[in-house]
Amino acid sequence: MAHQAPLFSRVAVIGLGLIGGSLAAAIRQHGLATTVVAADRRADELQTGLKLGVIDEAAESIAAAVKGADLVVLAVPVRAIEPVLEELRANLDPTALITDVGSTKGSFVASVRAVFGEVPANVIPGHPIAGSEKSGVSAARANLFENHKVILTPLDDHQPQALARLTALWEGCGATVLTMSVERHDEVLAATSHLPHLIAFSLVDTLAGEDDNLDIFRYAAGGFRDFTRIAASDPVMWHDIFLSNRDAVLRVIDHFNQDLEQLRQAIERQDGALLLRVFSRAKAAREHFSKMLSGQAYVTTMNQKQVTFHLSPGGSMTGDIRVPGDKSMSHRSIMLGALADGITEVEGFLEGEDSLATLQAFRDMGVTIEGPDNGYVKIHGVGIDGLQAPRGPLYLGNSGTGMRLFAGLLAAQAFDTELTGDSSLSKRPMGRVADPLRLMGAVIDTADGGRPPLRIKGGQPLKGIHYDMPMASAQVKSCLLLAGLYADGTTSVTEPAPTRDHTERMLTGFGYPVHRNGATAAVNGGGRLAATRIDVPADISSAAFFLVAASITPGADLTLRHVGINPTRTGVINILRLMGGDIELFNEREVGGEPVADIRVRQAPLKGIRIPEREVPLAIDEFPVLFIAATFAEGETVLTGAEELRVKESDRIQVMADGLAAVGVQTTVTDDGIIIPGGQSISGGTVDSHGDHRIAMSFAVASLRAEGDIKVLDCANVATSFPGFVELAAGTGIQIRAEEA
Ligand code: S3P
Repeated sequence: MAHQAPLFSRVAVIGLGLIGGSLAAAIRQHGLATTVVAADRRADELQTGLKLGVIDEAAESIAAAVKGADLVVLAVPVRAIEPVLEELRANLDPTALITDVGSTKGSFVASVRAVFGEVPANVIPGHPIAGSEKSGVSAARANLFENHKVILTPLDDHQPQALARLTALWEGCGATVLTMSVERHDEVLAATSHLPHLIAFSLVDTLAGEDDNLDIFRYAAGGFRDFTRIAASDPVMWHDIFLSNRDAVLRVIDHFNQDLEQLRQAIERQDGALLLRVFSRAKAAREHFSKMLSGQAYVTTMNQKQVTFHLSPGGSMTGDIRVPGDKSMSHRSIMLGALADGITEVEGFLEGEDSLATLQAFRDMGVTIEGPDNGYVKIHGVGIDGLQAPRGPLYLGNSGTGMRLFAGLLAAQAFDTELTGDSSLSKRPMGRVADPLRLMGAVIDTADGGRPPLRIKGGQPLKGIHYDMPMASAQVKSCLLLAGLYADGTTSVTEPAPTRDHTERMLTGFGYPVHRNGATAAVNGGGRLAATRIDVPADISSAAFFLVAASITPGADLTLRHVGINPTRTGVINILRLMGGDIELFNEREVGGEPVADIRVRQAPLKGIRIPEREVPLAIDEFPVLFIAATFAEGETVLTGAEELRVKESDRIQVMADGLAAVGVQTTVTDDGIIIPGGQSISGGTVDSHGDHRIAMSFAVASLRAEGDIKVLDCANVATSFPGFVELAAGTGIQIRAEEA
C-alpha cells in the first residue's frame, strides 16, 4: 500500500537490530517516509543496513541522526534508553514524535521522565509483538510486522495527532494496532511472553547442567524443541526485559511457582485426580485459546479461520436425523450445574463454540468439568458461593447469551470479573442487562454505548427488585433471575411477551423454587441448587433450517428426532403451519422438565402471511431461514414488531435483505421487520453472512431452490451453534462444500 504523501519526512531509527531494521525496511518499502536514517554504535550493522537497502542513510552519531527528524524510533535494548535519550536531547526537534519498540513500557516511561522531567505529549510508547530468535539487521524483514499486533501505550495527556500518525505508520507496515495502559501492557506481557522465555532459558540451562546432558539433548524429541525454541533468543535483550519489568514478572513467577509446587506435591502423594484436573483444564484452555488467539490475543501469527460455503443449485431433502443439542439449555446446564451442590451429569450438550466458551469460563473460575464427550458432560458443582476469581478476562466468543447470563451471575460474586467477546459480540448492547443490575446494586462498567467488555466489581451486596422489561428478552430475564439467586429478598421480572423459559424450568429442576404468575417470574435469594441429571434435547433453532429446507424442496420427506418443543420456542412451527407447511409432531414426551417430540416434515405449497406479532419472540432466532421460506411462498409475507433482530449476531433484517438482494430477491426493509413478496426465484450469487451463523445456514437452505451457484462468505461461526452442519446438510441432500482458508 504506497501512500500518496509519506507520513513522515525523516525517520531516525536509533539501534539497527532486528526490530529497528525491520521497521526501517517496512517504512521504506511502503513509502511511509521520505528518508530513513539510522544510528548504531556498531558501524558494521549500519553498513549492512545500507547494503541491504534497509536504510537510506547511516548517521555518524545519535545526535546527527535525530537532527531534522520528525519521527524518532528508539530500538535499543530497554536499559540503553536513558543514555540514548540524554545523547539525542540537544539536537531533537521539540515537535518530533518519539516512540520505542521495547518489551516493557513502565521502564521506558520512567527513562523519559528521568531525562525530560516529564513525559512530553508527543512521546508515544510502543511495542510490536513480533520478533524471532534471530537478532541483528541481517535478519531484518520488511514484512515482519504484517498481521502482527502492535501495542501502543499513550499516556493520559498524549497528543492525539501523534497517536494517529504513529498508528497510521504501523498500519502502513501491515500491523494491527491496539492501545492499552502502560501498567496493563506490562502485566499482560509478563504473563504471555516474559514468563515463557524465563522458563525456556531456565529449563535448557538446567538440562545442560545435568551430567548426562549430551544424551539428554541427543534424545530430546519434538516437544523439547518446540518448548525451548525461545531459549535461543538474545540474552542481552532478555536480561534487560526482566530487570525492567521486575514487579510484574515477579508476580507471575510466584504464581507459577505455587502451581508447579502443587503439581510436584500431587506427584509425590500420587494424587492422580489433581493431575488429571489440571491437565484437562489446561488442554481445554489451550484448545479454547487457539480460537482466541486467532481473533483476540496479543501474540498471534495465525489469521482467523475463514470458511466459505459453496452451494450448487438443487438437491433433495430426505433422511432421519438428530441435530445438535439446544444452545440455550446447554449454557444453562453448565451454569446451574457449576453452582449446584454435587455432581450434575448432562447428556446432549451442544459442543458448539458458544456453549464451550461458557464451559471454559467456569473452568477458569475453578470448576472441574469433565468432557464434553459426545455430548456427555460431568460437572463437579462448587455450590452457590464456590466460584473462584478467574485469572483474567472471561472470553465468551460470539455468545450474547453467555455474556448476558454471566453478567447476572457474576454481579454478586466476591471477586471482580471482566467479560469479553469477539468482534460481533463486542458490538452488541449490554446496557439492557447492566442497567437493571445496577438497580439491584451491581457495579458494572461497559465500553461506550453500553458495549462489551463488561467490568463487574465484586463484593457488592444485591437487593431484589421488580423489573418490567422494556423488550421481550429471555436473556435479560434470565440474567436478572440469576442475579436474584444472590440478592436480598425477591427479584421479579415481568416480560412484555412470553420468551423462552428454560431458566425458570431448569432452576426448578435443580430444586430452586421459581414463582410464576402470568408474565412475571420471581425468585427469592439465598437458596441452594441441588445437582441433577439433564437431557438436552435437539435444538429447535437448528432443526428450523431443516424444517424450512424440507418444506420448500420437491419430494422432501425428513424426520428430525428428539427436538425440544417447549411452547416458548415453537414459533417456527406455528409460522410454517400458518404458511401451509406440512409438519407432523409425534412421540411427544417430557424429558427432564422440557417437552420433546420427533418431527416429520414434507414439502408443501407455502403461502405468504402477515406474521402474528405474538409469534415473534417465539421464533426470534428462526427468522433468517423463515425469510427463505417466504421468498418461495405464494403471496406477500409481512413481518413487524421484530426490531430485536437488528441487535442479534448481525442486523438480521438488513443482512438478510442484502443477502437476498445479492441472489436477485426483492424485499422491503422496515424499521421493525421486512416485507417479502413471494413467488420469487433465487439466482446464483455471492452472499456475505457477516459472520452470522444463522444467515450462513439460511442461504445453504436457499440453494435447494436456487437457479445458480451460491457462495456464502464468512461462515466459520456456524460452529458456534451447529457443529457438523455441513456434513448433516450434505447427508440430507444439500449440495454444499465448505472451503477453509
Ligand atoms: C436466548 C435468548 C434469545 C435468543 C438467543 C438465545 C437465550 O435472545 O435470540 O439466541 O438463551 O436466552 P433474547 O432473549 O435477547 O431475545
